[in-house]
Amino acid sequence: MLVFAVESSCDETSVCIMDDNKKIYSHIIYSQEIHKKFGGVVPELASRAHLEILQKISDKAFLESKLTVNDIDFFAATCGPGLLGPLLIGSTFTKSLAIGCGKPFIPINHIQSHIFSPTFNNNLNYPHLSLLITGGHTQIYYIDNEKKISLLSESVDDALGETFDKIAKILGLPYPGGPEIEKRANEGSAIYNLPTPSLKDKSMNMSFSGIKTAVNILVKQNDLNEKFVSNICSSFQLCVLKVLLKKISECLESLKTKSKTVTSMSIVGGVSNNAYIRNEVERHMNKKNIKIYFPINEMMTDNAAMIAWMCIISNKKNDLFFNVNPRLTI
Ligand code: KG4
Ligand code: ZN
Repeated sequence: MLVFAVESSCDETSVCIMDDNKKIYSHIIYSQEIHKKFGGVVPELASRAHLEILQKISDKAFLESKLTVNDIDFFAATCGPGLLGPLLIGSTFTKSLAIGCGKPFIPINHIQSHIFSPTFNNNLNYPHLSLLITGGHTQIYYIDNEKKISLLSESVDDALGETFDKIAKILGLPYPGGPEIEKRANEGSAIYNLPTPSLKDKSMNMSFSGIKTAVNILVKQNDLNEKFVSNICSSFQLCVLKVLLKKISECLESLKTKSKTVTSMSIVGGVSNNAYIRNEVERHMNKKNIKIYFPINEMMTDNAAMIAWMCIISNKKNDLFFNVNPRLTI
């Protein structure tokens, strides 16, 4: 079974050709450069860039793989959540190929693909916890089994990746902010005590927008030199690590009261590229006898390989649309 998959939910245009034996014939991820000068994604420009790039990288993928569209059994594309224009470009392009070849078109959920991306290279045991940290979402899911997923905690305002990007912008660092902040943080010390907001309601939700405001105030009070920037980056990473660890602990405690014991957890999404966050979360979880899993590197930032894989695992289970939490639907 051969799948041609497209991801276009934000500013990465990506295509992948994969078979159900996990062979990746081609996987191309094009990160759109145009947004750099705006310090964030401009949806209309993203749509136009997807339109321009998609056909070129698709041709390249077929050339690389020595396959043709007629060899493909399933055409899959991200249909949500994401930016509406970019989603429409990717899904309409893929659907047109499916109709042209007389093959099925499979709509794929972006969040679900991130969550199940570690199953490509790991045998996960259930129940399982998933920490999803992307540019658009920050969520903790409890996965009872592959078909039963519940949302335990999420950011009520900015997502973690978004916070990295916004703080980078305040500090005059380029977009995307995550890798830049990580680089600068390694050169600094966490000398600033940034707030770790806890919400007054009884939920286990998180909030990141206050950290951005605290950084803004510090920037106004200080000279924006290299040392200051590195120290802020370091302090910010420590601060978000504390928030994540606190929220994971709250989720584990709440599960315990329902007699649910979790011994494994995965960390997925673009922010999981951050070595400090992944290593520190792993170290703290190992102390609690929780084993941590990650997807392969090319499935961390937005990519079409996780979309192809989601299509394959859904199909293997003869269940193209997993019965998941309604929050996961488009
Ligand atoms: O999962 P992803 O590619 O896209 C969404 O689904 O949103 O995540 C993109 C986010 C961006 O906000 C980017 O700054 C962040 O992931 N990111 C990082 C790192 N690499 C990418 N954040 C922190 N440290 C990194 N090394
Ligand atoms: Zn994503």
